[in-house]
Amino acid sequence: MSKATYSLVNNETGEKIELPLITGTIGTPGADVGKVYDKLGIFTYDPGFTSTCSTKSAITYIDGDEGVLLYRGYPVEQLAEKSSFIEVCYLTLHGELPSATQLAEFDQSIRRHTMLNESLRKFFDGFNYDAHPMAMMTGVVGSLSAFYHDTTNNKDPKHREIFAHRMIAKIPTIAAAVYKKTVGQPFVYPKNDLDYSSNLLRMMFAVPAEEYEINPVAAKALDVLFILHADHEQNASTSTVRMAGSTGTNPYAAISSGIAALWGPSHGGANEAVLEMLNEIGDVKHVPAFMQKVKDKVEGVRLMGFGHRVYKNFDPRAKIIREQCHKVLKALGKENDPKMELALKLEEIALNDDYFKQRKLYPNVDFYSGIIYEALGIPVNMFTPMFAVGRTVGWCAHWNEMTADSTTRIARPRQVYTGAAVRDYTPVAQR
Ligand code: CMC
Repeated sequence: MSKATYSLVNNETGEKIELPLITGTIGTPGADVGKVYDKLGIFTYDPGFTSTCSTKSAITYIDGDEGVLLYRGYPVEQLAEKSSFIEVCYLTLHGELPSATQLAEFDQSIRRHTMLNESLRKFFDGFNYDAHPMAMMTGVVGSLSAFYHDTTNNKDPKHREIFAHRMIAKIPTIAAAVYKKTVGQPFVYPKNDLDYSSNLLRMMFAVPAEEYEINPVAAKALDVLFILHADHEQNASTSTVRMAGSTGTNPYAAISSGIAALWGPSHGGANEAVLEMLNEIGDVKHVPAFMQKVKDKVEGVRLMGFGHRVYKNFDPRAKIIREQCHKVLKALGKENDPKMELALKLEEIALNDDYFKQRKLYPNVDFYSGIIYEALGIPVNMFTPMFAVGRTVGWCAHWNEMTADSTTRIARPRQVYTGAAVRDYTPVAQR
């Protein structure tokens, strides 16, 4: 652990303040700048939070240089290989792996909360069939806040637990209902004897006119994808949930704000953008021209699914998803998927190109996930809702951690004002 001390000095007056170091169990410590304004009369400036911690947290750890991701201390690779999404949900929320009884009870509770209030379902009638699924997800999840007045005493741990169970259980039902709205098919009710991912697949793809057979390969692949998306510490959508939640707002409303933040192409929306990019490139022979456009920054074209604020090495999730892609495509008899071929070519070129090497740009979680979703028959505009389904547990865990912490204060950043200086109002006739 670093023994160094840090201080800030006003070079004009010589006034100096010490910055206490906040250290965690592992990883980079943070210098506490909370008293800088009081003592030195200046703010610290860090748009995009490149060097700024917004909180302490015990949920997820990332070492971006080494490509390490731990949920509650457990490497994501081990969880993806050996655990299940439901067990990872328990771990993420509670901090420890469950006993067999705890797991069975938790699983049962999630299965029992999958249905939507029938009145809530009517919200879907207000949307146009061509609304983006993420727009509907944001609206419908926000409207959950109008239904659960019985459990919104944020100070009550039991209420916080029921909120998390409801959110995790209902988010697949909402995502499937959103999909059904876009294709004009009747909603399919959840079937609680099915596991989490199988239930979601059935709600998306079953129709009343014929039986639906769940493909275990598809259900397993989805389960692994959800594990990989479960949490990612203080990313944009989680920070949005925390920021909204810091005001003491209704937790369902806070989750809705997280879904809105996830939608953007720099964040969860990148999985949709990757598939659009692969479709646009179309053929391996067009890859060099596309890469030139990226490197020349023509109209801001980026290699979607590449780069990350924190990972300056392989995103460990991308490695697992690439392996999963091969497995799933093989199991579904789609080994020669042209999109996979294109993606592998793009990756190979990028990893050997100075532009990407110098900027430490590697494939991220979104680069290969879309190829799996597509192989499972999930349409492109549903990719980001799938991300939202997996990430909901992370949002709930962070909201819970923040809300349970008695030292939490409203998140209220400061600014450097660059507008007009003070001036006098002139009546309109004199302008
Ligand atoms: N393609 C081409 N150039 C890139 C890319 C990319 N995907 N990403 C970053 N760069 C360049 C960027 O132009 C800049 O170059 P220069 O130094 O010459 O100005 C340099 O790399 C640093 O980029 P930045 O935008 O300052 O980095 P950031 O940390 O602010 O942004 C990012 C991170 C993920 C938004 C960005 O890498 C990006 O836009 N990637 C594509 C979108 C994407 O895949 N997002 C999913 C992220 S992972 C899942 C999730 O968070 O939901």
